[in-house]
Amino acid sequence: MEILDGKHIAQTIRQELHEQVESLIRRGMRVPSLAIVQVGNNPASTTYVTNKLKACREVGFNARLVSLPADISQQQLLAKINELNSDNSIDGFIVQLPLPSHINETTVTCAINYHKDVDGLHPHNVGLTALGLPGIVSATPRGIRELLMRYGITTEGKHVVVIGRSNIVGKPMAMLLMQKPYLSLPKMSAASLGDATVTLCHSKTRNLKQICLTADIIIVAVGQPNLLTADMVSEGTVVVDVGINRIDDPSSEKGYRLVGDVDFQHVAPKCSFITPVPGGVGPMTIVSLLQNTMQVYMDSITV
Ligand SMILES: NC(=O)c1ccc[n+]([C@@H]2O[C@H](COP(=O)([O-])OP(=O)(O)OC[C@H]3O[C@@H](n4cnc5c(N)ncnc54)[C@H](OP(=O)(O)O)[C@@H]3O)[C@@H](O)[C@H]2O)c1
Repeated sequence: MEILDGKHIAQTIRQELHEQVESLIRRGMRVPSLAIVQVGNNPASTTYVTNKLKACREVGFNARLVSLPADISQQQLLAKINELNSDNSIDGFIVQLPLPSHINETTVTCAINYHKDVDGLHPHNVGLTALGLPGIVSATPRGIRELLMRYGITTEGKHVVVIGRSNIVGKPMAMLLMQKPYLSLPKMSAASLGDATVTLCHSKTRNLKQICLTADIIIVAVGQPNLLTADMVSEGTVVVDVGINRIDDPSSEKGYRLVGDVDFQHVAPKCSFITPVPGGVGPMTIVSLLQNTMQVYMDSITV
C-alpha cells in the first residue's frame, strides 16, 4: 500500500508556481492576484480561507481577503461581486461557501464573472467541463486528477466508483473521469485523465457495497466518517477520501480531530494507493485554486 501524499504533491506544485511567478517578475510583468470573499466568521471557513490566503502568498500571488458581515443582504453581496467582476487588479476570486441561510448560493455563484470563477463552479465552467472543453475545472476534482496523475495512476478502461453527487465534487469528478481525453485541447490535456467507466453513487444507491467491490478506483465525497469500510473494498483498489469530518477527541488540544469518510485503519491494508485525511485531497484542493488563478492570469495576458 502506498500513501497518495497530497501534502507533498501540493508543496511541489506550489514550488512550480513560485518559479513561474519569479519568472514573471524577472520579465517585469505583474503577478497573479486572487481575492477571497468571506461572509461571516464560521470557524471552519476561517481556517480554509486562512490556508488559501497563506498558500497564495507563499507562491507570490497577490491575495486579498474581502471580509463581510454575516448579516449582509444578498443584494449588498451581489454588489460587492459586481465590483470584483470589474476590478482589473483581480484575476480571479471565490466566495467561500457555505453562505448564511438568507443568501442563495446559486444566485451568488451565477453572479461571478465566469472568466474570474477560479472555483470553477459557475454553470458556464461546469458546462465546459461536461463538454470536455478547456475551462476552469472545479478545484477539488482538478486536485484529485492531478494527484492521480502525479502517482502515475491511469483511469483508461477502469471502473471508477464516485460516491457523492454534489456539484462541487461528485458530479464534476465523474465528468472528468468519463471524458474522451482527445476532446481536451492542449491546455487541459497536460492534466487529462479520462476514459474511465464511471458509476456515480448517492444516498439512494442500492447495493453500494457490491458496486464498490467491482471498482478499480473509489472516490468518496459524502461527509460521513467510516462510510467506506474494509468489506466494501477489493484487494488492490485505489481509494481517494475527500471527506472532512470533525469528530470529538478530548485528547486533542482542539477537542476534535479531522477524519475522512473512509475507515482508514482497516481499508488501507487492502489498497494499492490511498489518500490520508488530513494531508490527502485537502492540500490538493487549495493548490488547484492557485493553478486555476494562474490559468486565468495566463489567459488574460495571452489574449
Ligand atoms: N478535501 C477537500 O478539499 C474537500 C472539498 C470539498 C468537500 N469536502 C468534504 O467532502 C465531503 C462531501 O462534500 P460535498 O460538498 O460533496 O457534500 P454534499 O453536498 O453534502 O453531498 C454529499 C453527497 O453524499 C451522498 N450521500 C449521503 N449519504 C450517503 C450514503 N449513505 N451513501 C452514499 N452516498 C451518500 C449524498 O447523496 P444525495 O445527493 O442523495 O443526498 C450527496 O450526493 C464533506 O465532508 C466535505 O467537507 C472536502
